[in-house]
Amino acid sequence: MNLLDLIQRTPQPQPWAEGEKIPWNDPDFSARMLKEHLSQAHDAASRRAPRIDQHVNWIHTQLLAGQPAYILDLGCGPGLYASRLAALGHTCTGLDFSPASIAYARQQAAAQSLNCTYTQGDIRQANFGQGYDLVMFIFGEFNVFTSEEARLILRKAHAALQPGGLLLLEPHTYEAVRDLGQAPATWYSSASGLFSDQPHLVLNESFWDEARGVTTERYYVVDAASGQVTRHASSMQAYHDADYRALLNECGYDGVTFYPSLAGGEAVQPGLIALTARRNTL
Ligand SMILES: C[S@@+](CC[C@H](N)C(=O)[O-])C[C@H]1O[C@@H](n2cnc3c(N)ncnc32)[C@H](O)[C@@H]1O
Repeated sequence: MNLLDLIQRTPQPQPWAEGEKIPWNDPDFSARMLKEHLSQAHDAASRRAPRIDQHVNWIHTQLLAGQPAYILDLGCGPGLYASRLAALGHTCTGLDFSPASIAYARQQAAAQSLNCTYTQGDIRQANFGQGYDLVMFIFGEFNVFTSEEARLILRKAHAALQPGGLLLLEPHTYEAVRDLGQAPATWYSSASGLFSDQPHLVLNESFWDEARGVTTERYYVVDAASGQVTRHASSMQAYHDADYRALLNECGYDGVTFYPSLAGGEAVQPGLIALTARRNTL
């Protein structure tokens, strides 16, 4: 794309039509994103260490009652949760399609002799295996999938859990997704950043499709030297609590329980909630 293509862009994008999400699985992007995951300056790609410790403690003590469990972490990133859970005596498998994150997670597991294995693959296509006590899918990524894909993921997680096993989701609230779509356009410039190693501008605009309950974000990355424009787009499905409950019941889960955060109480990151559900024994 060039700047004229940008100016002549479609006014309102169709959800998921211009791209699925930011390019987590692109090798160069994933190497830059890994730095953001590991940064202790912000909570954007992964939370900072003290918060993750708090979440892991809640999962270990409250959800797993301190008993050793088989855990599958979907969208595990660099394994910041899986590695801590393994250090507490759990056996963990992480799945993610970011090459740099999986390489880092594997290196950490080897260096610390952790009971963790990692697979690089797309959640929609990868084989999850089976017999897990806990399948977790956290930090809002659930909403970035279409509702058809979300059903597929929930059904695959159901098949991977043992009967009575627990699913842990950390999705966005309806309001958080809507507010993101109604936010004003923004831009920034950078000499080197997440979207490029070279000097560039990032122009961001958001749209809220009220009828479908979907937010779509566009990121136009303008290379300063060539003026070339790269577009990324990401859509998010909004769900009310009742929609989450209905979706989980439809996909074979019972006992849906909502929590204000991944630490059980007090929402420190408003807009994200935690919920658990059990694979029914049918
Ligand atoms: C917001 S990050 C969270 C990472 C990790 N759960 C954490 O909290 O530290 C979302 C992760 O989901 C992964 N992801 C997104 N879509 C995916 C897909 N279709 N298949 C596999 N991984 C995916 C990304 O690569 C990224 O590591």
